[in-house]
Amino acid sequence: MAKVKTPRWGWALTGSGHFFKECLGAIRALEDVDLFVSKAAGEVLRMYKQELSLPKSTRIFRDTTASSPPVGYFYYGVYHTLVLAPATSNTVAKCVYGISDNLATNVFAQAGKCRVPTIVFACDTAPELETEAPKGMVKVYPRRIDLENTERLKAFDLTQVVETLSELEQALARRTRELAAHG
Ligand SMILES: Cc1cc2nc3c(=O)[nH]c(=O)nc-3n(C[C@H](O)[C@H](O)[C@H](O)COP(=O)(O)O)c2cc1C
Repeated sequence: MAKVKTPRWGWALTGSGHFFKECLGAIRALEDVDLFVSKAAGEVLRMYKQELSLPKSTRIFRDTTASSPPVGYFYYGVYHTLVLAPATSNTVAKCVYGISDNLATNVFAQAGKCRVPTIVFACDTAPELETEAPKGMVKVYPRRIDLENTERLKAFDLTQVVETLSELEQALARRTRELAAHG
């Protein structure tokens, strides 16, 4: 494998149509990203007819194993930040309850165990939302459990939960400035 620049961004993409295309745009704007693609995210990519087409410095890891070997990189300081965006209600629920049974939930768990700051863009943030389905905008009504799980995640150490695209962009910009300031 080609030599990669470290530390890097880790970015886990899950199977949420909510701001999926916008998150891909945000990934394209970053250099030195390791992208972890959940099985559902791989399917959603096809349904929204999206190409990954990412900068050359990006490495892509797909969820093809039971033990998620790429999480080993977290032990060796390869990541300065993990971004989990967009995060489905499924992934948020698993993260909140400490379940790590696939690539996205494993990288979240290992980031926590290795004290890597994490930014999560949760999808279910309000009782009523407009979201992009493959054929256009639709209304969804996240359940109480989904909203409660988003709230619970906010109490996690070193975890910033953002609720809008602009909050995500601001969080990425702030982290980029912090990294530049600290070399
Ligand atoms: C087109 C499409 C869009 C979806 N959008 C969302 C979404 O916005 N939010 C969500 O929580 N789940 C959404 N789902 C359902 C998730 O993909 C599904 O719960 C999946 O099991 C999540 O797996 P993951 O969390 O491992 O990525 C969507 C599914 C499809 C097919």
